[in-house]
Amino acid sequence: MAITVKTVGDLATKKKSAEKIIMLTAHDAVFGALIDQAGVDLILVGDSLGMVALGYESTVPVTMDEMIHHAKAVRRGVKQALVVGDLPFLSYQVGEKEAVVNAGRFLKEAGCAAVKLEGGAEIAPILAAVVRAGIPVIGHIGLTPQTAGQLGGFKVQGRDAESAARLSHDAQALAAAGACALVLECIPALLARRISSELQVPTIGIGAGPYCDGQVLVTHDLLGLLPHFDPKFAKQYASLAEVAGEALAAFCREVENGTFPTAEHSFGPLTD
Ligand code: KIV
Repeated sequence: MAITVKTVGDLATKKKSAEKIIMLTAHDAVFGALIDQAGVDLILVGDSLGMVALGYESTVPVTMDEMIHHAKAVRRGVKQALVVGDLPFLSYQVGEKEAVVNAGRFLKEAGCAAVKLEGGAEIAPILAAVVRAGIPVIGHIGLTPQTAGQLGGFKVQGRDAESAARLSHDAQALAAAGACALVLECIPALLARRISSELQVPTIGIGAGPYCDGQVLVTHDLLGLLPHFDPKFAKQYASLAEVAGEALAAFCREVENGTFPTAEHSFGPLTD
């Protein structure tokens, strides 16, 4: 029987029984509800919202207050899945105390079940401090968008032996620090397979091939809501931008030519 993820502890149970973990992003109550009803385990209020919802050029400008605002909205729409808050740039890197306070806001103010933070072994002490405070944490290694500049841009990571070894080391360090799962972003499939098999902690891949213990995508990519952004790793299951564009143009046409609204969409008779 399929395992229902009720707490972050159930993620490891899923890994043990080789059941895939499913995670998607949401930024508001409507998508939170739709994604929840589809049957995902985890809904990530990702800082990708900076780009897909707030119109920033990267995730760097996203603030804690913006993340909390959106996490609260998502949480209101979700009944079953666990909601995960993504700690934005400089909300946790500066020190343990600030990391614990900001991570705690996701639980206390938005009702999240866990937080996610980007970074390798260097961030492990901070991750451990947040876990010690009683807050479940998902790590995130490989291509880490908040520091993509340092990584040479939005590029696949871990292609050569040295950086692959560094990523394996990062994964071990974060698991030892108490991470309840690790997002592996844009790394070669066989490296993701090795990391996943070496860890007890589940891995959740995005652009990391089929051997991870779970998969995550940005919902906007999956639904085709950003027509000019079509990354190799994101399968488009629908073309909603096209559907929305057609519907919006039809509305404009019908208002212009007077075919909307009709009696069907009006209150009372149309003539006296
Ligand atoms: O912010 C985000 O949406 C993410 C996913 C890409 C994992 O971190």
